[in-house]
Amino acid sequence: NTKVYYIDEHDTDKIKEAAEIIASGGTVVFPTETVYGLGANALDEKACEKIFTAKGRPQDNPLIVHVADFDLSKYVTDISENAKKLMEAFWPGPLTIIMPKKDIVPLTTTGGLDSVAIRMPSNKIARKLIEFSGVPIAAPSANISGRPSPTTIEHCINDLTGKVDMIIGGEKCDVGLESTVVDTTGDEVVILRPGGITKEMLEEVVGNVSIDPAIMEKASEGLRPKSPGMKYRHYAPKAPLTIIKGDLNNVIKYVNEKTDELSNYGYKVGVMATDETIKKYNANIKISVGDRKESGIIAANLFDVLREFDKIDVDYIYAEGFSEEGLGLAIMNRLKKAAGYNVIEV
Ligand code: TXA
Ligand code: MG
Repeated sequence: NTKVYYIDEHDTDKIKEAAEIIASGGTVVFPTETVYGLGANALDEKACEKIFTAKGRPQDNPLIVHVADFDLSKYVTDISENAKKLMEAFWPGPLTIIMPKKDIVPLTTTGGLDSVAIRMPSNKIARKLIEFSGVPIAAPSANISGRPSPTTIEHCINDLTGKVDMIIGGEKCDVGLESTVVDTTGDEVVILRPGGITKEMLEEVVGNVSIDPAIMEKASEGLRPKSPGMKYRHYAPKAPLTIIKGDLNNVIKYVNEKTDELSNYGYKVGVMATDETIKKYNANIKISVGDRKESGIIAANLFDVLREFDKIDVDYIYAEGFSEEGLGLAIMNRLKKAAGYNVIEV
């Protein structure tokens, strides 16, 4: 009972059909430039409850509200100067801004918080869907909670068939990692989740930007991420994943020794390599996530590669680490979460 339409932004009739589902309280999976989203009317409590049920998402994990118009006065009580500058610089695009909410936005949408996360996507299907439905659309990533976020329509079909009213799209997501989430309510802008808009890009617009210290390490008492979603295990493939960081020659040597040892016991080892290194691993199952020099490509491929390892059914996965500069911060944030913060320095 889930309708699936492979469409592009010119299929206005299909997008209107999807918009009617949203307007009448249903759920639609749709593409954005970051990852696919599982959308419902953000102002309709019952509709948003369907999102949590379909994903198996904890109730205290707030949703991002997607808009197509810069006028947010109906939804928020205040827009800080920093927020205004960031909206102007990066919207439409992969930046989500936390603002104090008005009562019209239900607590179901914000996971009980008095703030709301808002983003204007640049993807044309997403923009038309929001415009045609006439309401803001709450949309978390369109995966079952805990699995890697979906960057292709096939990922969404695998996870959510039978659980949502409609799935539309077809294109692979450009960015491939979820949006950067920032808190602009204090004097200094704080990154709560790194993403396609990097710290360096934000700093060009608003000066010094800090990073929530909890996001690159395992959550613990006293180190609790400000963005509720960041505390959950996420992006995880079924097999245990270990990141090996260090000089690449050492990484290759370490992984090859481990592969030999584990193979002797009959285990299947998978390696997440890069174009530069893939030939040097002796594991049977190895997938390149892209060219090390092209962090945009690595970001766009990461979740798909993690899902590939599940299809092949490996027992252990080793992944090369990356620098945490620029987009690398978001890449390593997702990879570390996928690995349960299991990182070995060699
Ligand atoms: O790129 C994206 O942002 C995608 C596409 C579909 O737009 N959406 C997405 O949503 O990644 P989701 O639900 O998977 O992640 C939302 C993140 C979570 O980490 C959540 O905790 C945080 O945003 N968040 C939402 N509202 C918040 C709030 N009021 N305060 C702090 N963090 C918030
Ligand atoms: Mg998500």
